[in-house]
Amino acid sequence: MLNPEKLLSHFNPVTGEILGAPPVQRHLHDLRGCFADLAAFAAAAAAGNPLLYSVAAVEPASGQGDLHYGVGRLMPGKIGDEYYLTKGHLHSWREAAEFYLGLTGDGVMLLEDEASGESRMVPLRPHGVVYVPGHTAHRTMNVGQTPLTYLGVYPAKAGHDYGAIAQRNFRCVVVERNGQPTMIERKAL
Ligand code: PA5
Ligand code: MN
Repeated sequence: MLNPEKLLSHFNPVTGEILGAPPVQRHLHDLRGCFADLAAFAAAAAAGNPLLYSVAAVEPASGQGDLHYGVGRLMPGKIGDEYYLTKGHLHSWREAAEFYLGLTGDGVMLLEDEASGESRMVPLRPHGVVYVPGHTAHRTMNVGQTPLTYLGVYPAKAGHDYGAIAQRNFRCVVVERNGQPTMIERKAL
């Protein structure tokens, strides 16, 4: 059935808003345990609880072959040397891949293969598409000075599994070194 209300949505690439899709907001305190520099996190969390990112998702249908999509907006900033980031997750249905399209700003994605721990840092910028394979934990960072916005499209049945990441975190972190986003092993910090 071709329901016109499901066929088209309108998003604002600057604000990250999608008409009719209420955003989920994540504030600094929601990111407890994500950042590597615990002292820097504690100091920032004591000073306030700013909005770090919001995600508005559209779920037109949830059958086997359907797709869901969302627009994220991540603010610029750092905790210690580590850029503001999303929680990061694996998909509950591990085979599910995703693609991210950069809309505004300057970001990177940290991708980590679940089995091997192999990690890659990939730029997320306007006119660039990042393909996140299945079985790959993914986290987004804003490495610029302005809000980063992006569109993510994924199988409807993908699901978000935050548990594994909450327990062990990503093996690598992205920090500013000599003014550049640099991926290093967490244990090397
Ligand atoms: O589905 C996705 O991968 C994105 O829309 C993310 O949900 C978004 O980037 C926010 O990240 P997280 O879900 O890890 O908080
Ligand atoms: Mn995802």
